[in-house]
Amino acid sequence: MIQIQDVSFEYEKEQGTLSHIDLNIQQGECVVLTGESGCGKTTVTKLINGLIPHFVEGGTLSGTTIVNGMEVPKTEMYRLAEQVGSVFQNPKSQFFNIDSDSEITFGLENAGVEPKKIKERYEATVSALKIQSLLGRNIFSMSGGEKQSLAFASVYAMNPSVFVLDEPTANLDADAIDTLRQQIIQIKKEGRTVVIELHPICWTV
Ligand SMILES: Nc1ncnc2c1ncn2[C@@H]1O[C@H](COP(=O)(O)OP(=O)(O)OP(=O)(O)O)[C@@H](O)[C@H]1O
Ligand SMILES: [Mg+2]
Repeated sequence: MIQIQDVSFEYEKEQGTLSHIDLNIQQGECVVLTGESGCGKTTVTKLINGLIPHFVEGGTLSGTTIVNGMEVPKTEMYRLAEQVGSVFQNPKSQFFNIDSDSEITFGLENAGVEPKKIKERYEATVSALKIQSLLGRNIFSMSGGEKQSLAFASVYAMNPSVFVLDEPTANLDADAIDTLRQQIIQIKKEGRTVVIELHPICWTV
């Protein structure tokens, strides 16, 4: 599902962030990227979701990254987004709406999905992730854990085959971590590929 072959990457003015990396992830695998701060975990996730090279400017990239048969640098972001969903460390950074229902359907609406299908995906998302308590809510009044769940749901609604989670437990309390754990169990059961960046300090979760 994901092939990273002999990839090296340097941000502008940084040297040797990633040096000759190889990584093969099969469909349905759940892989944790871990290591000390600054070792390049997030950079690897950006190779997979296409932020490198499509959004990060001025870097130097070599090697090959293929996701579900698509060579990432040569694939339009909207095509990659159909396959790869990303949940970032700070869910606030990925919201576009002020109410939860609009946020869940936002990606589908932007992708031009027909209304009937949007309704189906919305209902499937609510039922699979058991997020009834998040519906009809103002995002500003949500706790950090609820925001994280909503970010996860808005990605799940898009039905990606790959989930990339960047330090998803970093700002969560024990209950919210448990909810996230159930959500990850659900996507694993569904055979999706999961890549999780986790700092070693979070391993106890
Ligand atoms: N946008 C950027 N521009 C320049 N350098 C960057 C950028 N993003 C990251 N870096 C540098 O690249 C290196 C790897 O960063 P990266 O964020 O991938 O590490 P990480 O393993 O995810 O760290 P953390 O555990 O803190 O999340 C670090 O030295 C970092 O300072
Ligand atoms: Mg990181």
